[in-house]
Amino acid sequence: NYYAILMAGGVGSRFWPVSKKKLPKQFHDILGTGETLIQRTFKRLSKLIPEENILILTNGMYNDLVKNQLPMVTDNQIILEPVMRNTAPCILLSALKIQKQNEDAIMVVAPSDHWIEDEDAFVNDLQIAFDACQRQDDLLMTLGIQPTFPHTGYGYIQHKEQTSVINKVVNFKEKPDYHTAKNYLSSGNYLWNAGIFIWSAKAITAEFKKHASAMYEIFAEGKSYYNTTQEQRFINENYEDAENISIDYAIMEKAENVCVIPASFDWNDLGSWGALHDELERDEHENVIINAKSILDNASNNIVRTLGNKLVVLKDIDNYIIVEDEEVLLVYPRGDEQGIKNV
Ligand code: GDD
Ligand code: MG
Repeated sequence: NYYAILMAGGVGSRFWPVSKKKLPKQFHDILGTGETLIQRTFKRLSKLIPEENILILTNGMYNDLVKNQLPMVTDNQIILEPVMRNTAPCILLSALKIQKQNEDAIMVVAPSDHWIEDEDAFVNDLQIAFDACQRQDDLLMTLGIQPTFPHTGYGYIQHKEQTSVINKVVNFKEKPDYHTAKNYLSSGNYLWNAGIFIWSAKAITAEFKKHASAMYEIFAEGKSYYNTTQEQRFINENYEDAENISIDYAIMEKAENVCVIPASFDWNDLGSWGALHDELERDEHENVIINAKSILDNASNNIVRTLGNKLVVLKDIDNYIIVEDEEVLLVYPRGDEQGIKNV
């Protein structure tokens, strides 16, 4: 009764121009490993979950990309969203669909675009979470990452004094402002939310009924269509009525039975060029050069990527993102990288 849903509908706008609406980052081999991020995520999950129980949730325009990159996945495993509504609606819809297949299903919700180095440690933590939900089927399990700086793009999970592997969560705060995040860090018992959730289909649908009843009504209406040839038509006709909201705001900040497992693996959400810089090979001046030859004179901390092995010459350039694409040349200070999504 193990299931997974793989969320692959984001646009990855902070990785522009490489990641864009036409081809978001989860469909790129952004790490240069020979596999795209979604392929790596699918493989990682299939160590614990049968391939046929892994659903892919994405926007209608990425159907062909999913089928090409994951040829083992059948049409009934792909949910195509007609419009972007963030993560809450697609999680509820897939939980109802899974619950219809298996009343006792336990599912992991996984982003498709993260970097996780130690797959065995990941699978081990996942197993602990599945076991916990098996024992107590109203739990909402999260995985927590030891924070290193007051990042304002993450959720923060406050847990009780750490006594065991599984800790009761006292407070969940999505994307706090800088000042609040700083206070959280100095108080000690806060972890970053990895954005990976484990729960029974039963538990999460009940939470939606309680905290997001309008959305629950919309998708509960479709129960008789899920897993039939009418499913996609129902989604196309009703999906846009759902509120545009993430699971973190819709449920996690409000729910009570939340627990956290401090992750035993290294994690990076590859949320920006800077995050990628941390995971790739750097020269002695901390430059990351992708797809390029370079002549560097007093250049440091830069990320450079060309389309095809161009020669890049940098003099007196520090801390820049320099990325070439078919249509765009981006030269942007790393310190302001969060602004790239606005471009
Ligand atoms: N199917 C689908 N549909 N997937 C989506 C959609 C959508 O409309 N919107 C986003 N996603 C996918 C993204 O592709 C990504 O894999 C995942 O859902 C999370 O969305 P993000 O937009 O990347 O969320 P975030 O990074 O701002 O915040 C979340 O992740 C952080 C960790 O990386 C939150 O859960 C935070 O609390 C968490 O710390
Ligand atoms: Mg993200």
